[in-house]
Amino acid sequence: MRSDANTFTLPARVLHWLMAAMILAMLFIGVGMVASVSERHEWLLRIHKPLGIAILILAVLRLAVRLRHPPPALPVDLPAAQKLAAHASHWLLYGLMFALPLVGWGMLSAAGNPIVLIGSFHLPPILPHDKALYAILRPAHTVLAYLLFVTFLAHLGAALTHALVFKDGVFRSMVK
Ligand code: HEM
Ligand code: HEM
Repeated sequence: MRSDANTFTLPARVLHWLMAAMILAMLFIGVGMVASVSERHEWLLRIHKPLGIAILILAVLRLAVRLRHPPPALPVDLPAAQKLAAHASHWLLYGLMFALPLVGWGMLSAAGNPIVLIGSFHLPPILPHDKALYAILRPAHTVLAYLLFVTFLAHLGAALTHALVFKDGVFRSMVK
């Protein structure tokens, strides 16, 4: 059982829920985008790029908060395998929060076209113009997005199990 005082800090909780909403929106915008043509595709892509870069910036902030304030310890009676799974999946989620925007930005850099972020503001390329590299990064963006979605589903399942079955304070530590 985790005690009530044993919660994530306010900045950690705000960042967690804000980013959860942004990342979920991005997954659906991404899928909607590749399933649409013409105007709707362009419109969704105009949201996808700045939202993705905002996620990258917030991920840097979140990692800094995380390193400064270690999270509350998991309940002592939680089996070691579950603790390991929790830690591994959290670090995987952190890794994907960085990897997806960077691969998105990198693939557009490798494609060699100007990367319009908002209005006349362009992102600088972070990789050289290279078609072979683009051919690797474009599918990598898709695979990483699916991996993020699957990890999120496992995370959601675990969070709800802690909240509704174990009732051990793990869920509460992220909501208050
Ligand atoms: C957390 C951040 C991100 C998530 C979750 C995400 C997710 C997705 C998903 C689910 C797709 C559609 C699946 C597919 O590729 O077939 C997609 C496509 C795409 N994403 Fe992202 N993305 C992110 C960040 C970015 C960033 C920062 C950029 C560029 C600066 C970007 C550029 C693109 C482009 C250009 C496409 C393909 C559009 C097309 O071919 O029509 N993404 N993304
Ligand atoms: C895409 C969406 C989400 C992402 C990327 C995400 C990511 C994360 C990460 C990285 C942590 C570890 C925090 C740390 O150690 O600094 C965490 C913890 C947590 N998340 Fe999420 N999360 C998401 C959605 C959700 C949702 C929808 C729920 C609840 C229904 C939830 C509940 C929790 C809880 C309860 C914890 C605390 C776990 C613990 O005590 O160690 N998360 N999340």
